[in-house]
Amino acid sequence: MSGSTELDAADPLAAFRERFLPAADVAAYLDGNSLGRPLAASVDRVNEVMRTQWAERLIRGWDDGWMDLPTRIGDELGRVALGAASGQTVVGDSTTVLLYKLIRAALDLRPGRTELVIDRDDFPTDRYLVESIAAERGMTVRWIDEGDVTPERVSSVLTERTAVVVVSAIAYRSGFLADLPGITATVHEAGALMLWDLCHSVGVLPHALDDWRVDLAVGCTYKYLNGGPGAPAFAYVNAALRDGFRQPITGWLGSARPFEMGQGYEPGPGMRRVLSGTPPVLGMVGLLDSLALIDEAGLPAIRAKSIALTEYAIALADQLLPDAVLASPRDPARRGSHVTLDHPGFEAIMPRLWERGVIPDFRRPSGIRLGLSPLSTSFAELDLGMRVIAEELAAAR
Ligand SMILES: Cc1ncc(COP(=O)(O)O)c(C=O)c1O
Repeated sequence: MSGSTELDAADPLAAFRERFLPAADVAAYLDGNSLGRPLAASVDRVNEVMRTQWAERLIRGWDDGWMDLPTRIGDELGRVALGAASGQTVVGDSTTVLLYKLIRAALDLRPGRTELVIDRDDFPTDRYLVESIAAERGMTVRWIDEGDVTPERVSSVLTERTAVVVVSAIAYRSGFLADLPGITATVHEAGALMLWDLCHSVGVLPHALDDWRVDLAVGCTYKYLNGGPGAPAFAYVNAALRDGFRQPITGWLGSARPFEMGQGYEPGPGMRRVLSGTPPVLGMVGLLDSLALIDEAGLPAIRAKSIALTEYAIALADQLLPDAVLASPRDPARRGSHVTLDHPGFEAIMPRLWERGVIPDFRRPSGIRLGLSPLSTSFAELDLGMRVIAEELAAAR
């Protein structure tokens, strides 16, 4: 195995790391899949928006472009990261709220169908929403049980009553990368709609949502898109579905003529109908910098480094942590950009890791999740982090 020095020296994306702000007491940041690092350019941009746009233009800022930011940044996100033509992506709300809106809208696009499908191990917010929407509408949840979500296992729970299937492209715990085009095609054969949760794949994996004929997708922007804590989420609605698309949070800014303040809700044009209330301007402007960075680096190169980082993490785990169990796929083609290792001793050493500036994620009951963000993570930092984890585990025995 090559050492981290050689890997960093040969890394064509190594220089991008300098664009992020450093953290003085952090030796290894291995949690970019939970909260990405800030870009120096975004700090300048937020400052600029506050000083010149907010302070000087005040309420006139809404007419100067703030109102269009959800669709403008959405289109850019669609182009750079999703393989989506313009007019199908919008930024706003949180992933949770957008999931609610899109699942509810999907049910109305498949009238008469009474079943929703989701993976038993999907992220809690996705499961909780599917369960509560099913209860709200008197529908049935059909669960994909045990193990990775493959087209065959999705197929086994589809019926002629399935309305919508919700799956995460990359499983938040194991890092398993689902077959997006394969599962989408399987769901379509059953006449149902496919909704992908792209939280862990956006920004690290090339997507082709239009070509794969994906119906609906959501994702957050604070992980590999480095939008910052609480940065708003995005929604993709395939153009083919948009005209009949009605979502349940019928706020004024998603309506056809918000400033007429008229009676009765009528959905707005294009993707504006997905919106509900005032756009979170300060929370979304930083995305312009991270999307420009991803565009410059190129998603194929980002994916190649993501694979190299996760391969290196697994090789180091095999060598330094032989008692830990790899909970992520060994096959890089089926793996996202994080690696999860299970060991009963991990939970106890987390405070010591933080004290030493090594910051992975911990997922109960016993998983350390190493989130490797290709534009901001170096091989040397990963190497150091893994060695500290091994040292602390040995010291705790
Ligand atoms: C896969 C997945 N879905 C949904 C969410 C929830 O996102 P939010 O808290 O922005 O609503 C997360 C958050 O980490 C996630 O990882």
